[in-house]
Amino acid sequence: LNEAAGPRRNPFRARSLVSAEDVSREDLLWILDQAQAFEGVASGERVLPRPLPLEGKLLALLFFEPSTRTRLSFESAMQRLGGGVLGFADAKISSSSKGESLADTVRVVAAYGDAIVLRHPLEGAARLAAEVAGVPVLNAGDGSNQHPTQTLLDLYTIRRATGRLDGLTITFMGDLRYGRTVHSLATALLHFDVRMQFVGPAGLKLPDDLRQGLLASGRVAVEVTDLAGISATDVLYVTRIQKERFPDPADYERVRTSYRIDRAAVERFGDTLKILHPLPRVNEVDADVDAHPGALYFQQVRNGVTVRMALLNAVLAGRGI
Ligand code: NCD
Repeated sequence: LNEAAGPRRNPFRARSLVSAEDVSREDLLWILDQAQAFEGVASGERVLPRPLPLEGKLLALLFFEPSTRTRLSFESAMQRLGGGVLGFADAKISSSSKGESLADTVRVVAAYGDAIVLRHPLEGAARLAAEVAGVPVLNAGDGSNQHPTQTLLDLYTIRRATGRLDGLTITFMGDLRYGRTVHSLATALLHFDVRMQFVGPAGLKLPDDLRQGLLASGRVAVEVTDLAGISATDVLYVTRIQKERFPDPADYERVRTSYRIDRAAVERFGDTLKILHPLPRVNEVDADVDAHPGALYFQQVRNGVTVRMALLNAVLAGRGI
């Protein structure tokens, strides 16, 4: 545990998590420390003492976009804490397909659950939901905007593997424009003393407002279109091209195969390199990278349950463990 952070009131109690911008450095360190206390529970190696902390609580999951990891890890985390889950994974079977507004759907579902996890294709959907819900809303991705719980598990994975967050060089590679995991993680990293490097095809640069904020922080070291332009890095954070966000399929075709890493491409960064990817991967990470000692993307998946347990416990139970 991070002793320096000291004992602290739970900053997430009964709160929504909509954007990485809403979370301070202290909040981040608090929740990462909490997650450490749940290590082993997600894998079943350790069982929590009874009564489980979220017995009697219900989590509503509203997924208007495809998901494997985010939805199932929230479900797993909630149930391991003794709580129950309800919701839908396909908006076509909900009343939204009859024309119900998102605000009304959220108001209704707030009557059935103690918190809501929402994934929606529209940017700002989670903010709107948080305003009308009356229960905490956890943003599981709103369009190309934000994915803050992914950021918590990314930070947790990086800190667990390197022992720190300050002092690192972190390279983002991929769809910088539409990748919400990139936007959230880069925003959260502004709270740490890091160097950020960005590698992405010309048409997929960071959105302007985010880019300006990052540049103003002095933490952006390099922006290039090819990994060859990067000389050293501690972490390589790769993302897939977000095909579903392209207004014009021809633009997607132009960048579809514009980057890819294989074992040879990452070898020059040394054995201590950590390679992260939020998954799903399509063709941007060759399977021969999987055996690299620093390939952490399946570790991220496991950490996703651990971190979401800590978050749900903090939001719903209101006390640290
Ligand atoms: C990401 C997402 O949905 O933004 N997936 C995830 O939650 N792990 C990344 C992606 O879809 O590329």
